[in-house]
Amino acid sequence: MISYGKQSIDKSDIEAVIDVLKGDWLTQGPAVEIFEDDLKSYFGSKHSCVVANGTAALHLVGIALEWSENDIIITSPLTFLATANSIIYSNATPDFVDVDPKTFTLDPNLLEDKIKQYESAGKKVKAVIGVDFAGHPCDWSSLKTLSRKFEFQLINDNCHAMGSSINSDKQYAVKYADVVTQSYHPVKNITSGEGGAVLTNNRSLDEKIRRYRTHGIEKEESKLKRIGPWYYEMNDVGFNYRCTDFQCALGSNQLKKLDLFVLSRQKISSQYNSLFKNHEMLTIPHVNENIGHSYHLYPLLINFDGINISKRDFFYKMRSEGINLQVHYIPIHLQPYYKKNFGFQFGDFPISEKIYSSEVSLPIYHDLSSKNVNKVANTILKNI
Ligand SMILES: Cc1ncc(COP(=O)(O)O)c(C=O)c1O
Repeated sequence: MISYGKQSIDKSDIEAVIDVLKGDWLTQGPAVEIFEDDLKSYFGSKHSCVVANGTAALHLVGIALEWSENDIIITSPLTFLATANSIIYSNATPDFVDVDPKTFTLDPNLLEDKIKQYESAGKKVKAVIGVDFAGHPCDWSSLKTLSRKFEFQLINDNCHAMGSSINSDKQYAVKYADVVTQSYHPVKNITSGEGGAVLTNNRSLDEKIRRYRTHGIEKEESKLKRIGPWYYEMNDVGFNYRCTDFQCALGSNQLKKLDLFVLSRQKISSQYNSLFKNHEMLTIPHVNENIGHSYHLYPLLINFDGINISKRDFFYKMRSEGINLQVHYIPIHLQPYYKKNFGFQFGDFPISEKIYSSEVSLPIYHDLSSKNVNKVANTILKNI
């Protein structure tokens, strides 16, 4: 079965993990700090804190930015559940703004309209989480302008876009957003098994996130000297969101190959593009001119209304031919929990709903051979 996403693990990855397993540290050892330093140099952030997964990273961001009840936090409906759920973890109120129909990322004009609606009702938007969907960065320059104008916190859920660039700059994320979250889940552009990180240029935010990563524990040098080397204090409740040393060793080794992985993803997407671009029932991913797309996903739009097969039957047909597609995403406002608790309904975010009705994510990962890319494309063309 060809799946839509998969990790690429080679001998050097295995050796990196084995080296740690043979050493003294399994968790919170030197490999954690090395991975954090590697992330800082690749993504150009002053600080980075590695955590258990991308969801934990988002949770810690909400806590560190002090979201609480009655705070309004806006994100895209077209993202993984974790992005919006992290707002609820802090008891804040999630709301959505629809996406741009070409890039599938937050539409800054709709965002401004929404913020103005809130302001005319005497309410303020506390934060906005942009999602670099599939590897296409948001319009960060416009989002940044809005964040200054309306004074909201700006977060980049960057889980899809490691290795993407704006104006050839792969370090764009921390330049625009106050804080950036990443995930190293196996289908992402690099993996550490489970794993994630929070990147920021804000020192006090990083310090808070580090404390909350380990139960809220603080160790102050002067108190250690005065009271004793065992001493620690807890002033706020935190979590155990740590990542192990062997996962971090894998993360560091994978990061060395990120550019290579992105290159493979770009090659695969070009191959798909050339096979699909002239088909009137298909829309290939759009890429803005100043963008380097890292293709975490290859979202193809199929006009199911114009062809003789439903999306459901198409999926099963592809599966019977050994190809496991995916859909990104069921818009979050349509989830029963969000409808029941926040009153969202079908029709609220029509662009995301339309994308959902026609989007399929095709297999794309470093080890996918050109022969299999052809097989996927030809099986699609045969079945539509
Ligand atoms: C956009 C987005 N945000 C957050 C997450 C959560 O990351 P993790 O699975 O590492 O918790 C994911 C992962 O699927 C994601 O795609």
